[in-house]
Amino acid sequence: MAVKISTISTLIVFLALLSLGHFSHGELRLGSYSETCPNVEEIVFGVVEKAFSTNSRLAPLMIRLYFHDCFSNGCDASLLLDSTTSPNEKTAGPNLSVDGYALIDAVKDELENKCEGVVSCADTIALVTRDLAHLASGKKARYEIPTGRFDGRESLASSVDLPGTQMSVSDTFEMFKKRKLNLTDMVLLLGGHTIGVTHCSLIMDRLYKFNNTQNPDPAMDRNLVKELRRKCPENSEQNRAINLDQNVSSSNIVDASFYKQIKSRRGILQIDDQLAKDEMTKQIVTDLAEGNDFLARFGQAMVKLGSYGVKDQDTGEIRTSCRSCNDFCTA
Ligand code: HEM
Repeated sequence: MAVKISTISTLIVFLALLSLGHFSHGELRLGSYSETCPNVEEIVFGVVEKAFSTNSRLAPLMIRLYFHDCFSNGCDASLLLDSTTSPNEKTAGPNLSVDGYALIDAVKDELENKCEGVVSCADTIALVTRDLAHLASGKKARYEIPTGRFDGRESLASSVDLPGTQMSVSDTFEMFKKRKLNLTDMVLLLGGHTIGVTHCSLIMDRLYKFNNTQNPDPAMDRNLVKELRRKCPENSEQNRAINLDQNVSSSNIVDASFYKQIKSRRGILQIDDQLAKDEMTKQIVTDLAEGNDFLARFGQAMVKLGSYGVKDQDTGEIRTSCRSCNDFCTA
């Protein structure tokens, strides 16, 4: 009988831990500010909703910022640091076109007014990004995002580690795998390219001189090549913005149309095009293009990305200003 009771209590403890595990990611948990800043989500959403109503570009900017911050050194807001004893993350090539810093400052100021010294910049990024993805989906997508991140004290251009557009699917996947993200997570996260833009300079090779030939990338839809060549003439100084999702009615909406576009050979970046063709990922792309669960699954993948390399109170701090460390910084 005694054995039976201890077996049952072990089972209960196990189930309780399992259910806790369901809600928490590493050091993170839902409602981590419920005692210290109970209205944190409302405060953040208030500022974000107002900003988005006059500038919808904030959504793609912030989704990209979140990805770039998390991928290099973990989700620790190191990308926000301005201090410059050595080149910081902001100055690294792929981060030169990243922006959205002023919105984070505005949200953080409001948080400091209401709950001084409590909410980290890394959590601010995660909450702001979640809210913008929600607004840019026409309020169809809303995922819960666990919090409890601390802010990093180091920001070095040399530690920026991001995939390039011309890398193969399998090399790109190696980089995601290192961050504990699986192949499906990678395809879902690249669905971030359902909104926002790239620039002519980054696709000129696909339009004119693919693989050192005098021809466009044969993988790209002929009509799209023609259209893009008009927008990006060969010797133009103008570096126009080109929508990553070529469905005109949904280029600014977070939805699954990106996957339909890449399946129709209308991917803009080479990596997007490759996703739809590569044996490793093409079935996942087809399922997302044909299914109706992209929004929910994108949210889950964003949560998973947001748990990578999170700092705790020993390895990080709660910054007062997101642009500088409280005491000392390596940057
Ligand atoms: C896997 C490899 C990836 C590569 C090679 C890549 C590359 C790029 C490039 C070259 C741009 C255009 C930059 C410019 O022209 O200024 C871009 C834009 C963007 N990327 Fe990615 N990206 C990747 C993954 C991701 C992921 C995982 C997300 C989201 C979770 C994401 C979100 C975005 C967004 C939203 C934009 C538009 C930014 C804007 O409109 O300002 N990307 N990406």
